[in-house]
Amino acid sequence: MSECLSRRALLAGALAGAVAMRTWGKDASRPPAMRRLIANENPYGPSPSARAAATRAVKNGWRYAVREVGALKADIAQLEGVEPSQVMVCAGSTEALRVSALALAGQGGRVVAASPTFFFLPDYARKLGCEVAEVPLDDAMTHDLDAMAAAVNPATKLMYVCNPNNPTGTQLDVTRLGEFIAAVSPRAPVLVDEAYLDLNPDWRALTAVARVRAGDAVIVTRTFSKLHGMAGLRVGYAVGPAELIRRLEALRVSQMSYPGVLAAAASLADAEFLDFSREKIRAGRAVTMAVFDELGLAYRPSHGNFVFFDTGGSPRAFAAGMRERGILTGMPSAAYPSWSRVSMGRVEDMQAFTAAARDYFRSPG
Ligand SMILES: Cc1ncc(COP(=O)(O)O)c(C=O)c1O
Repeated sequence: MSECLSRRALLAGALAGAVAMRTWGKDASRPPAMRRLIANENPYGPSPSARAAATRAVKNGWRYAVREVGALKADIAQLEGVEPSQVMVCAGSTEALRVSALALAGQGGRVVAASPTFFFLPDYARKLGCEVAEVPLDDAMTHDLDAMAAAVNPATKLMYVCNPNNPTGTQLDVTRLGEFIAAVSPRAPVLVDEAYLDLNPDWRALTAVARVRAGDAVIVTRTFSKLHGMAGLRVGYAVGPAELIRRLEALRVSQMSYPGVLAAAASLADAEFLDFSREKIRAGRAVTMAVFDELGLAYRPSHGNFVFFDTGGSPRAFAAGMRERGILTGMPSAAYPSWSRVSMGRVEDMQAFTAAARDYFRSPG
């Protein structure tokens, strides 16, 4: 009897909970979900073929994805025009940045990077006890390659070049970058972070992988988090000379997600989706830049899935004002105190951003 009662009580409780959840789910007073324009994600992904591959892969989720990683590595090697021994597949490209810092700069080595740039590698190198020489961007908010080359000294163990650069969205001239790598890499390996380069349909002509093929000490990192819209599935890779890749692999500890690896392989083969994704990001940028033109705000034309622009005031106040209008955005930069970065969502998210930005700049707060 008491068991029966407690069961009934449990059932009643569960039902009440379910009703409460349904009510809560329909509660019109709840604020709508925020539009995420903050982390350079790509809400158009994963591609339908990647989703299908990941869903099919879940039933094999009990296994380590060893053979599948080998197959993905072969696909990537073919795409990049290198040998599989020159590719490391890893759990997002930040893992490649991490093991590069660890393997090449080690404890106490010196790293040269631009400022501002993607924070991860310089920050991680500092945690390892490395000295980080920060070279300011030039007046066009582009890497100052001459100044970076001049900053190399005998203690320098790694150069970090983010191309296109996050947060400024600027892209280096491929010939100039190639000359820089050829000149500097005999003194210190160069890591070129190309997380956003494949948003450009001509990325094959622009990639520093050409310098890997030429035999230079250069590592190129790429990710499935941006163009492919798979940030949550955690797949990235590095391309470099086999000897450097071996040193990185020796320090890589994470195993890959089985659904992530199969989704990446499917996405790589989905040219139609990749073109669609590129076009939507381009269209989102156009909408965003148009409102900055209309409002008279300075911005850098961007090669990434984000735009860096001058709020003309406090980026924190702007972020707070946009949050009140249902938009999560921001990312201040110490080097440019009034500037902020907005990530591309869907084109309709950027239209909502446009309306919110107009409203904010007319009546801030
Ligand atoms: C320049 C750059 N590199 C790497 C990453 C990280 O990518 P992943 O998700 O592959 O770790 C980001 C993410 O924003 C980035 O901006």
